[in-house]
Amino acid sequence: MPEISRVGVLGCGLMGSGIAQAAATAGFPTVVRDVETALLDRGHAAIRKSLDKLVQKDKLAPAARDAALARLRLTTDLAELATCDLIVEAVTEDLALKNELWRALDASAPAATIFASNTSSLSIGEMAAATGRGDRFVGLHFFNPVPLMPLVEVVRAVGTSPETFERAVTFARRLGKEPIAARDRAGFVVNRLLVPYLLDAVRALEQGVASTADLDRGMQLGCGHPMGPLTLLDFVGLDTVVRIAEIMFDEYRESRFAPPPLLRRMTAAGLYGRKSGRGFYDYSSDTPFPTDLRL
Ligand code: CAA
Repeated sequence: MPEISRVGVLGCGLMGSGIAQAAATAGFPTVVRDVETALLDRGHAAIRKSLDKLVQKDKLAPAARDAALARLRLTTDLAELATCDLIVEAVTEDLALKNELWRALDASAPAATIFASNTSSLSIGEMAAATGRGDRFVGLHFFNPVPLMPLVEVVRAVGTSPETFERAVTFARRLGKEPIAARDRAGFVVNRLLVPYLLDAVRALEQGVASTADLDRGMQLGCGHPMGPLTLLDFVGLDTVVRIAEIMFDEYRESRFAPPPLLRRMTAAGLYGRKSGRGFYDYSSDTPFPTDLRL
C-alpha cells in the first residue's frame, strides 16, 4: 500500500476545519470539501485564527503557519477528494447523508484510498457496508478543539483490515496525536463515559440541585476539569449532544443515554450554546453569564 501523502477532508465545520488544520500543519497537502463557498470561507477563517493564536503563543513559527495555509485547498467539488490517499469525513451526524457521500466517493476514489469517519457515535460498520471497501474503512474520532486536544480514537469495525487500522494509527501519530484503539460501539470510549455525565448535569440543574455556575464550579474546582459540564455542553453544542445521545440511546436502550427534556427544549428553542450565542450561558458580552432558563 502506498504511503498516505495527500489527505481529503469532507466537511469544513468545527471538526472538519480542525482536522484539515492538523493535517496541513503536519505537512500533508490537504483538500477540504464542503457544499458552499460561504462554509469554506468560514472554515478557512477559523483555521487562520487558530494558527495565528498558536503563532502568538510561540507554539508555531510564522513560516510553519504560512506553509500550512499553503497546503490547504478548499473546494465544493466532491470529485477533487478522489485525488487523496485518505479521506476523513466530518459532516453532520446523519447516516443517510454520510452514506450517500461514501457511495459517491467509493465510485470515484482509487481502490487503495482509505475512508475514515470522524463520527462520534454512528456505526463505522454501517458506513463501511455502503461501500465496496469495508477492509479499508476505519473510524478516526478527533476531539474539540482539534488543534489542542491530543486524543484520536481509532475505531476498528468488523471488516477493517489490520493494515488499515495500523495505517490510521500511524496517520494519527503523524498529526502529533495520541491514538487509542476502540471497538465499533456507539460513543466508542470517550462519549460512552462523557455523554451520561453531561446529561446528568442537565438533570441536576433541572432538579434544582445547584445553579448553572455552581454545577460548573463544582466539577472544575472539585475534580480539576478545565470546563464544567454545562460550559462543555455549550462548547460542544447542545444540538450535537442531543443527536449523539439519541444515537447512543437507540443503540443501548439505557435511560442514562436519554436526552433530558430541558436539553431537548433548549435545542428546539435554538439555544445551541456558543455557536448560536446562547445556551446554558449567554455569550453576548465579553464575560459569559448564566442564561435565565425559568426553571
Ligand atoms: N486553536 C489554537 N489555540 C486555541 C484554540 C484553538 N482552536 N482554542 C483555544 N486556544 C488557546 C488559547 O488561546 C489559550 O492559550 P494560552 O493558554 O496560551 O493563553 C489556550 O488555548 C487555552 O484557552 P483558554 O484560555 O481560552 O481556555 P482554557 O484554558 O479553558 O482552555 C480548552 C481551552 C483547551 C478548550 C480547555 O478548556 C479544555 O480542555 N476544555 C475541555 C475540552 C473538551 O473536553 N473537549 C472534548 C469535547 S467532547 C468531543 O469533542 C467529542 C465529541 O464527540 C462530542
